Amino acid sequence: MSGISVPSSCVVQTPPAVASAMVTALGQFEGARWLEPCVGQGSLLRAVSSLGVSRSDIVGLDIDSMQGPSDHLGQISRGVEFLSWARSTSQRFDRIVANPPYIAIERLHPEIKSAALSTALDHDVQITANGNAWYAFLCAAITLLKPNGSLCFLLPAAWDFANYAAPLRRSISAYFSAVEIYRTKDPIFRAEDVQDGSIVLIARGRRQRQANGTTSRAEVASTDELINVLASPDRGETLHLQSDATTASGEDSHQRCRLGDLIAIRLGVVTGDTSYFLLTESRRRELGLPRSSVTPVLSRARHLVTSRMTKAQWEKLRNSDERVWLFTPTAQAMKTPAVKAYLSYGRKGGCNMTNHKISTRRSWHKLSAPTNCDAFLSGMSTSLPWLSFREMAALTATNTLYTVKFVDRDLDEKRKIAIGMSMITSSARNQLRHRGRSYAAGLLKHEPCDLLEIEVPTLDYNTVSWGVYREAIAALLKGDEKTAQSIADRYIK
Ligand SMILES: C[S@@+](CC[C@H](N)C(=O)[O-])C[C@H]1O[C@@H](n2cnc3c(N)ncnc32)[C@H](O)[C@@H]1O
Repeated sequence: MSGISVPSSCVVQTPPAVASAMVTALGQFEGARWLEPCVGQGSLLRAVSSLGVSRSDIVGLDIDSMQGPSDHLGQISRGVEFLSWARSTSQRFDRIVANPPYIAIERLHPEIKSAALSTALDHDVQITANGNAWYAFLCAAITLLKPNGSLCFLLPAAWDFANYAAPLRRSISAYFSAVEIYRTKDPIFRAEDVQDGSIVLIARGRRQRQANGTTSRAEVASTDELINVLASPDRGETLHLQSDATTASGEDSHQRCRLGDLIAIRLGVVTGDTSYFLLTESRRRELGLPRSSVTPVLSRARHLVTSRMTKAQWEKLRNSDERVWLFTPTAQAMKTPAVKAYLSYGRKGGCNMTNHKISTRRSWHKLSAPTNCDAFLSGMSTSLPWLSFREMAALTATNTLYTVKFVDRDLDEKRKIAIGMSMITSSARNQLRHRGRSYAAGLLKHEPCDLLEIEVPTLDYNTVSWGVYREAIAALLKGDEKTAQSIADRYIK
């Protein structure tokens, strides 16, 4: 499988001190066979080798065919895709250590995606298309352990809350004699798309599945503290037992709902030529276009400036000469000289008629703008998506934004606010961060499918109000995610 490249977000290296603490915590014994399933630049490989493990006892692979600086320390195969390899190899290991790639399964190369979806630990621990590569790596690794073997994985905070990970989260202690979870408040990686805390999961003593055992857990404040705890022979003292393995951070006890069951998302109107169809107020006046020839519109992420997009808010954008008019002449307006002239200008080259979206329209100038949406959101911005409720009749959006409609058309105001608020809860934000696709300049893109698949907690809608929603959105707009999340988290049932 050489030639398949993985996104840069998947190749963040484990800091050497963390790698060393992880393998120390896992422990070595004479003759133990080690596996590193995604060697990368060899951070964990060097740590294993430093324990005194001989080259012949370390097996490593990586999909990246480029030789790494430490490959000589083990038997390293490059250009090998782990999930397919795991299904066919007869090798078994005493120790597996990994910092697997974090990437949504639906974004994987089709061959890897298919290997991921064929991976399963058990009939009820399967990999689903809404899952993530790290989860597939973890399940596959468990199948490769010898009896009594142990593994240590560096995981995203999603281990604690992701719905797709729930089957293993609930049952992992059934496959091992002891499971330890170490969670840092701060992220271990300084990568753009890893902003939550991280988790080091150690599972010791692989055994046939039996009744769930217990899982112990330690919360640590920083990466330094994590390193100290993991590397300390007294690490057991920092761990506390979870009553059972079903709850990770307690979040699973909350009622949750797939966002896609609550809202529908549509792209805003596709104009085919924004320079022709989108107008500022001064341009509209200059052209003498009547009000009946234009529709108020939001056309940029920066237009989402408020929790409730009222007429007054939109007028502020209009008065600052943002492009907030969409050229949508009615039959009546088309009789006016100004509209006739603008259409004629469009036909003569003012509008890009060769654009596919325009050339395939029945009438090149007739746009089908969604006019009855409930809210707007931006799928591409430096912050995470949130709902700006539409309070101005006829206001629509172009396709740089998404329009949102509540699935249940009979929702009262409080329930609508609660849905908006649920998207700001910390668990929703964590999922959104993981699902976002990183673009240049810190931009994060969410396709509608990325948004609809997140699980949002059910909020106590009786106590939410426009006032608190406004407060939360004001915090978001100032870049203060923490405050916004803590406001929203207060309403989780
Ligand atoms: C997060 S990096 C970790 C690298 C290294 N193990 C460390 O801890 O520093 C993940 C590595 O997984 C590799 N990788 C991604 N998908 C893979 C796959 N399906 N099979 C094998 N390796 C993969 C990437 O090339 C990258 O080197």
